[in-house]
Amino acid sequence: MIASIIAEIKGQFANDTSGHDWFHILRVHKMACYLQEKEGGDLEIIELASLLHDISDHKMNGGIFNDGGNVARKILHKHNYDPLKTEAVVSIIDAVSFKGALVKDKMDSLEGKIVQDADRLDAIGAMGIARAFAYGGHKNRPMYQPDILPEQHEDFLTYAKSEGHTINHFYEKLLLLKDRLNTESARKIGQKRHDFMETFLAQFYKEWNTETE
Ligand code: ADP
Ligand code: NI
Repeated sequence: MIASIIAEIKGQFANDTSGHDWFHILRVHKMACYLQEKEGGDLEIIELASLLHDISDHKMNGGIFNDGGNVARKILHKHNYDPLKTEAVVSIIDAVSFKGALVKDKMDSLEGKIVQDADRLDAIGAMGIARAFAYGGHKNRPMYQPDILPEQHEDFLTYAKSEGHTINHFYEKLLLLKDRLNTESARKIGQKRHDFMETFLAQFYKEWNTETE
């Protein structure tokens, strides 16, 4: 089941240059399996949800919102997957995304919390920095515009529509993720990755300001 899902979806992510390439899916899958070992939960649901979590994300599907769950349901149905377990996977995919600084996360199941943590860990640290600038370039966003300050988005639509520069994205999402991880095992990893982003930003501003020391 897992192997045939991988074979089916791999090609869809192969040529992505927005930071949502196949290796992102693989890292999230691997991290989710690691977190499951530490925290428990149904491994099959965690594996399927992590592999399918970005299957029709609005950031890559031309702007259709809340489509991932439906696409995942169709794929699992085609594989004759158990309907109850299918809905468990679908509800994880529908809730996994970050929706704005002031929008509360709604993830009920342990399996969902683990997949969300795995996805969020890949959005911070060195990997998070690389992905943010890759995404910014992909969307033709400026790297940094010092006059344009970050916003705290109150709803998903304004967050999703914001077109700010990439440094703002650190303040609007990436630096907030450390405190929005669900499991203790992810928080341990998240702290180190968070510290690395803080170090990066301090150095970025130094070089931006032509500091020579
Ligand atoms: P989520 O579903 O929580 O958005 P994804 O797995 O889809 O998580 O990954 C989102 C990735 O896209 C992050 O790594 C993030 O760096 C990048 N991204 C999203 N919006 C922006 C943005 N406005 N600027 C830079 N990067 C962005
Ligand atoms: Ni993802």
